[in-house]
Amino acid sequence: MPVSRRRKKKSAGGTKSRQAEGYGGVLTLIALVAVLGAVTWLLTGGAGKDGTADVTLPALSARAAEGHKTFKRVCAACHGENAQGSSKGPSLIQVTYRPNHHGDQAIRLAVATGARQHHWSFGNMPPQPQVKAGEIGPIIAFIRETQRANGIQ
Ligand code: HEC
Repeated sequence: MPVSRRRKKKSAGGTKSRQAEGYGGVLTLIALVAVLGAVTWLLTGGAGKDGTADVTLPALSARAAEGHKTFKRVCAACHGENAQGSSKGPSLIQVTYRPNHHGDQAIRLAVATGARQHHWSFGNMPPQPQVKAGEIGPIIAFIRETQRANGIQ
């Protein structure tokens, strides 16, 4: 066949460079997969695509345990009993919500004014006015202690 003959001719002249090209292609592919994986990890914060995460509940301090109670009463409907996420809201125990990315102020703000949908596709988080001012600190303690126990610093 004329096509295969033409191919043969070409490769005879440039076997080396074609081989290098081949390796380059494989390397590019590996790099691409690695980059895609890293981007996905960063975007999803190490959690599953659905925003949920496996959460191990640590032995909480008294303050955090108090916060956990409020969390279960007010936030769990969307964020899950242990903040592992649900079909209505993301887990808060994932790198996306690590302290230097979503500081304590971001938690206060979310509770006071809600959060517009931006990281996920669950919709907006409505404000949570039923949380009293004194209850927010303990909720933050619960979130941070649980994050630390799950390797989120
Ligand atoms: C009706 C469901 C719902 C309830 C109840 C709820 N949340 Fe949320 N929350 C969400 C959703 C959905 C998001 C994600 C928005 C996005 O980024 O797409 C979110 C995001 C957050 C964020 C991240 C905000 C940001 O700046 O990105 C924090 C912190 C948070 N919630 C804390 C809480 C706490 C604490 C409570 C309880 C006092 C609570 N939420 C109750 C649905 C809820």
